[in-house]
Amino acid sequence: MSESDLAAPAPQKKIFVKTYGCQMNVYDSARMVDVMAPEGYAEATSPEDADIILLNTCHIRERAAEKVYSELGRLRDMKAERREQGKDLIVGVAGCVAQAEGEEMRRRAPYVDMIVGPQTYHRLPELVTRAANGGPTLIETEFPVDDKFASLPAPEKRKTLARGPTAFLTIQEGCDKFCTFCVVPYTRGSEYSRPVARIEEEARSLVDAGVREITLLGQNVNAYHGDDAKGEASSLGQLIRALAAIDGLERLRYTTSHPRDMDDELIAAHGEVEALMPYLHLPVQSGSDAVLDKMNRQHTAEHYIRLIERIRAARPDIALSSDFIVGFPGETEEDFEATLSLIREVGFVQAYSFKYSPRPGTPAATRDGQIAEEVKVERLQRLQALVAEQQLRFNKSCAGRTMPVLFDRRGRTATQLVGRSPYLQSVHLDDAPPHLFGRIAQVEIEEGFAMSLRGRLAMSEAVVA
Ligand code: 5AD
Ligand code: SF4
Repeated sequence: MSESDLAAPAPQKKIFVKTYGCQMNVYDSARMVDVMAPEGYAEATSPEDADIILLNTCHIRERAAEKVYSELGRLRDMKAERREQGKDLIVGVAGCVAQAEGEEMRRRAPYVDMIVGPQTYHRLPELVTRAANGGPTLIETEFPVDDKFASLPAPEKRKTLARGPTAFLTIQEGCDKFCTFCVVPYTRGSEYSRPVARIEEEARSLVDAGVREITLLGQNVNAYHGDDAKGEASSLGQLIRALAAIDGLERLRYTTSHPRDMDDELIAAHGEVEALMPYLHLPVQSGSDAVLDKMNRQHTAEHYIRLIERIRAARPDIALSSDFIVGFPGETEEDFEATLSLIREVGFVQAYSFKYSPRPGTPAATRDGQIAEEVKVERLQRLQALVAEQQLRFNKSCAGRTMPVLFDRRGRTATQLVGRSPYLQSVHLDDAPPHLFGRIAQVEIEEGFAMSLRGRLAMSEAVVA
């Protein structure tokens, strides 16, 4: 036996995290991989490859939560197969379903080794060690006073930091708004903003790793009020100005916002900060004042429309997106028509729309006036048809324009690259020079489709950054 045989390392242990739901979960999943790296775990490319499988879950609507239980059924079988081969598989559930269903999940899926809420994933290493020793399901769903962000490895040490030219950066978590349909204030807890210095440090590391566009994340991101260097609260507008000064950071976005927290400073930033992209996702949920009131949204349709006017005055070409819920308890046909009328008046370039889903523990779930499923389905179809019409019109209107595109994905063919326009549209470029990946180039849009654009490189000064 040679010396090199003796020194052969043990096979690398691996972790696979499957993400459900929002972009905050995408960010959290990457951090879960980060906190396990110092424990000797690499990221697996598939569940079959992994020693630990974590489902990072979403509880926002019923369907999202149900998907988790069906996936868990598959993992139970996988765990049994491994056991037959004399191997182990640790199965964990993280995120908002874990937070909301802790004990219930232990009963429904006792083979799950650990249940970790969104505020405690930094304790994964400890939970994994305990789970590896067998025993009953571990549940960790406190809202601890210690900051989970502070216990992450330093940004430059994170293996998963940059996965491409675009990245998410969570700056705020939790929500104090208590919309009557929403589980977030219960699953993610009350509002917390990370300090400016930590965010700047992470943004710089991302840029050093090749990131050109950062999307700042938070459940209610424009309520951001993190401490600056002087210990004073910084608004999102101020934070955006500070980040825009980072050399090499070409583009900034943020999501998701609440209309009540769009302050003058943030609106001004849209007009003045070049790196802040002309795209805003601003959920309104409904166009009916009666429904908005029952939802506890704390604003009227008129307030939203006037707000959009102010934002457009600052940045005339801003593209707007929103979230809508149809079939909220008590929603009449007139209420729903008011939503369609708001959509016509504002004009959206895209939107997410959902049938109201009663969430246990939220005030609206037990209200009178629950709407029949077929009514919800019909309203959703009408709303989506209207938004699709607006989206197609906007995309078609882009034909003939030249715009900077950040190429962040490989396309369907070997020579195709896909990028993002300033308005967050996918732009397809055939016969793209490979060096364009990760860079911004001027693209002349040739055609607009329902969900994307097709273009060709503009002749002059093709690569701008
Ligand atoms: N039912 C349907 N949609 C919901 N959303 C949040 N809670 C519910 C619910 N109970 C939608 C809202 C929110 C988006 C993230 O999900 O539109 O803005
Ligand atoms: Fe939920 Fe958003 Fe309302 Fe907060 S503001 S309760 S996250 S819908």
